[in-house]
Amino acid sequence: MIKKESIKNIAVKGKKILIRVDFNVPLEGDAVRDDTRIRAALPTINYLLESGARLALISHLGRPKGVPHPDLKLDPVAKRLGELLGRPVKKLDLVTGPEVKAAVDSLTDGELLLLENVRFEKGEEKNDPDFARELAAPFNLFVNDAFGTAHRAHASTAGVAAFIPAYAGLLMQKEIEELSRCLDEPGRPLVAILGGAKVSDKIGVVSRFLELADTLLIGGGMANTFLAAKGYSLGASFYEKEQLESASKLLEEADRCSCRLLLPVDLVVTRKLEAGSPSAVLEPQAINGDWKVVDIGPQTATLFAGVIKEAGMVVWNGPLGVFEIPPFEQGTAAVVRAIAAGKAYSVIGGGDLVAAVESLGLADQISFISTGGGATLEFWEGKELPGISVLR
Ligand code: 3PG
Repeated sequence: MIKKESIKNIAVKGKKILIRVDFNVPLEGDAVRDDTRIRAALPTINYLLESGARLALISHLGRPKGVPHPDLKLDPVAKRLGELLGRPVKKLDLVTGPEVKAAVDSLTDGELLLLENVRFEKGEEKNDPDFARELAAPFNLFVNDAFGTAHRAHASTAGVAAFIPAYAGLLMQKEIEELSRCLDEPGRPLVAILGGAKVSDKIGVVSRFLELADTLLIGGGMANTFLAAKGYSLGASFYEKEQLESASKLLEEADRCSCRLLLPVDLVVTRKLEAGSPSAVLEPQAINGDWKVVDIGPQTATLFAGVIKEAGMVVWNGPLGVFEIPPFEQGTAAVVRAIAAGKAYSVIGGGDLVAAVESLGLADQISFISTGGGATLEFWEGKELPGISVLR
């Protein structure tokens, strides 16, 4: 397992610390709609404040691509963070420069401030060393707690570590520990579940779990691409034509390995992607015309639940249907309930799946919920994450 020096082993009192957090949270108007990622960073923030450090937090929000955008300022985040900490959080409209340095210099032990959205700066995504140097200038130490952004080699996630000593925050360490456990010492049988729309961003992780898992369950839009690769026409359903060859190769890989790969045996279909629109349950060979696949069917849910019941560990990324449009969340819901009823240690990741599990009120049934989306997938795939590799 990757081991990183804990911030608990270093002297932080009086130190000026830049903390990279992932406060890329959904907003509704000028309020935070889901504060999960803010709450996940609180252990690190509270520990450092109680230890007398002087903190400046930095995050991205959305993808403004180097241009300031009024809807993507971090003011709503500062407000929510203040509510959670029980004290107002001062927010600057800048990221670097003399005003930032002056504000950081004026902090006393146990005080914090929040900087502006770092993706307003052109140097961020380019990982420009001059920008990273400016970012680091007011500080003694860098702490990266933004696991969700650790797969990006940006100035505030990786570049800054060239200029000041860089450590993993407590959330970052917890994520590394929990996600490594799935790979290094999984409970057996290990059941991996992959869903979501696209195969294209999951080819590596499908391949990895074909090596590691005992059973791989596939649902969501990505299952359509596998079914299409097996020759089913699937009517007007979404699938990725350009990924048919990759899907066929993965199916061949599955035939050769000891991991059992299960695709849906029945599917919920509709003609209109609208709440309450009439639907039917069909086997893959019966789907034609203008039917669109929107969920796994009840037989598939029962099949998947049977596998989960016997599992020692379940890892899962991506919903199994169009869960935002009821009643097409039922397949995903049935699988969450199977996890809740079973004995397996469960780890889930990915914003959509986490939102689905939360909206079903079943988040407390999951052993560990990762704050990462793409980062979790890349970690499981075995890729080196730049935001982790630069840390001591
Ligand atoms: C995420 O939401 O997955 C992270 O915050 C990373 O965001 P990005 O995909 O815009 O880099």
